[in-house]
Amino acid sequence: MTDERIEDLLRGMTPAQKAGQLTQYFYFQLPGEADPALGVDAGEQPRAVEAALGRGEAGSLLFVTDPDEINRLQRLAVEGNPHGIPLLFGYDVIHGLRTILPVPIAMAASWDPETIERGQAVAAREARAVGIHWTFAPMVDIARDPRWGRIIEGAGEDPFLGAAVAAAQVRGFQGGGIIAGPKHFAAYGAALGGRDYDEANVSEYELWNVYFPPFRAAVEAGAGNIMTAYMDLNGVPASGSHWLLTKVLRETWGFEGFVVSDANAVKNLETHGFAAGPADAAARAVVAGVDLEMAVSEPAYAHLPAAPQTGDAVDASVRRILEAKLRLGLLDRPYVDADRAREILADPQHREVAREAARRGAVLLRNEGDLLPLDAGRLGSIAVLGPLADSKRDTIGPWVFDFDLDETVTVLDGIRGAAGDKVRVEYAPGVQVSQRVFPSLFDMFGGNTPLDPEGFDEEAEFARAVRLAAASDVAVVVAGEWQNMIGEAASRSSLELPGRQLELLQAVAATGTPTVLLVMNGRPLDLRWAAEHVPAILDIWYPGSQGGAAVADLLFGAASPGGKLLFTWPRTVGQVPIHYAHTRSHEPQNQGRRYWDEQSTPLYAFGHGLSYGRFTYDGLTVEPAAVAPDGVVTVSVEVTNTGGREAPEVVQLYLHQRHGRASRPVRELKGFERVVLAPGETRRVQFTIGPAQRQYWHPAERDWVLDAATFDVWVGGSSTAELGTTFEVEDR
Ligand code: NOJ
Repeated sequence: MTDERIEDLLRGMTPAQKAGQLTQYFYFQLPGEADPALGVDAGEQPRAVEAALGRGEAGSLLFVTDPDEINRLQRLAVEGNPHGIPLLFGYDVIHGLRTILPVPIAMAASWDPETIERGQAVAAREARAVGIHWTFAPMVDIARDPRWGRIIEGAGEDPFLGAAVAAAQVRGFQGGGIIAGPKHFAAYGAALGGRDYDEANVSEYELWNVYFPPFRAAVEAGAGNIMTAYMDLNGVPASGSHWLLTKVLRETWGFEGFVVSDANAVKNLETHGFAAGPADAAARAVVAGVDLEMAVSEPAYAHLPAAPQTGDAVDASVRRILEAKLRLGLLDRPYVDADRAREILADPQHREVAREAARRGAVLLRNEGDLLPLDAGRLGSIAVLGPLADSKRDTIGPWVFDFDLDETVTVLDGIRGAAGDKVRVEYAPGVQVSQRVFPSLFDMFGGNTPLDPEGFDEEAEFARAVRLAAASDVAVVVAGEWQNMIGEAASRSSLELPGRQLELLQAVAATGTPTVLLVMNGRPLDLRWAAEHVPAILDIWYPGSQGGAAVADLLFGAASPGGKLLFTWPRTVGQVPIHYAHTRSHEPQNQGRRYWDEQSTPLYAFGHGLSYGRFTYDGLTVEPAAVAPDGVVTVSVEVTNTGGREAPEVVQLYLHQRHGRASRPVRELKGFERVVLAPGETRRVQFTIGPAQRQYWHPAERDWVLDAATFDVWVGGSSTAELGTTFEVEDR
């Protein structure tokens, strides 16, 4: 029945209508007219799109979030299309729509699939309520170079964690009622020099073992869409790669949803020097496996009716788009209830989910002398310092457009709310974060809330902040990057704290007032000085609309931090790329002596993160001690909280294959579980390690292999876990 309906529609469509179904237009509601950055006239854009709707030649729109506006455009589409086919509305719902959750890397740092799933389900519920059917998320690109700004959208450097986070997000979004679109297929995070959109040259060994697993997990979790990547992958644009989009994605992994290009990526096949012109680009993209073209301006797919040799690719793609619409129920119910949408957007439970996610994602990097949690009962005064401490726009982070700043809780607001009447809380920004050196594509969406550079007397403000610190019982310094220094088209060539923030931190610490550093970031920053001199460092990321409240919960001990790093935190940008799962080609004792001017170890290891508890690991067992290549072992360990407070801990399992047909990484994460233990409580945690965890893709065999070998296994609270044992995989 359903197939019949789609086949009937397909039979009645003209080639131009088919091409239209395969075209997704940006619909701008931007202030201003011509936008040179996009190469489009933002004033003309809506008129051109509405004309296409009237001709029945558009399949999807993006960037509209107002339910009344969505209904209006939907009506134009349904009435303009001779078959009454409605539009699919897509949007970048990256970490929330109205309720802004912590940035994706922050949610992922919880190492808690449930938190991640719940968060994205809230985002999806709000999106679906306003009429958005599909999100261009999750971004599941592995990021091993923090200069790349989009590291903030992902789950860090590790394929195993990345796969778990990818699947959790897909479940969250799709469980919440919208299609998930994992992106950007594939290896976008490997851009040369961390420069956004630059080419990626990645061996097949790394592609299969490192960059692909999160995509595969997302497909297995049922993702309805995949977005292509912009850049050349090993010499072929990812958006024109039949190998990636058809051979790997559909034929190897069995993906059944639809593929969308990244914005303008089909047209850009010509820019790459790959396609001869727009018609060639369109034909080659559709044949490679791009079902829907996301077009900022003139779509290349408008050339499809005249394009040569596309065989049955166009019909196959139209079928996939119609199937998505049918499955969403759009063919029968294209409109949304705008009043109901407003109610859902205001749901207080959504704010609670955001707050909890922010609490769980924060990573306590250092806590000398147990400075944290602060005891509000014993404090007379707190100095809250730094320009990010009271910036609503920065608190919610990049990649949000439809936020409500009025309800955003800054760190200062949160501390004021939680400290109680008896504690004097005073604020001084002290310095500005530096202004952007080069303008960004994203500035048009409204950047941060800069201090007024004219009226800001930095010398006087700096001195005032230091005086305030000296006169207070504790100083809380919020330092990091402005939110528009990170994200798309926001790479950095340095990891230093921008502007004079480090100087401020040093002057504050020099007063002798106990100092807490809260880091607001989406990438590791150069914290070498702080790591030695500031007793407490809590990475709060961009914590979302309830961020300040969550941070206050952590500062005053209403909750304990328990997040863990999902990247290796370098000391300096010169160490980049640096990741824990490297192979070893020299004696271990020489590993630490490779730079003339810097240690070779990271500042903080992958998986590191403290809490208000203290965890010990004991009684590690593996059973059986030897198995056949297809055998499964059970690894079990006892974790005890010997501290005085209930706290979370992420128990992590790392594996190493000692010998085999390829050199394998010194350690690889192959299991994790977040537990919460009361003081004195012991819990036995178990993991199973079978072929799925031991196999790897072999470059010469060009296939997955399982070796007979001795395996080391370590369990603990970070990638430097010392408690280890071995087991044998025997060739029997
Ligand atoms: C370009 C980005 O690369 C992609 O991630 C995003 O979804 C689209 N623009 C649409 O905004």
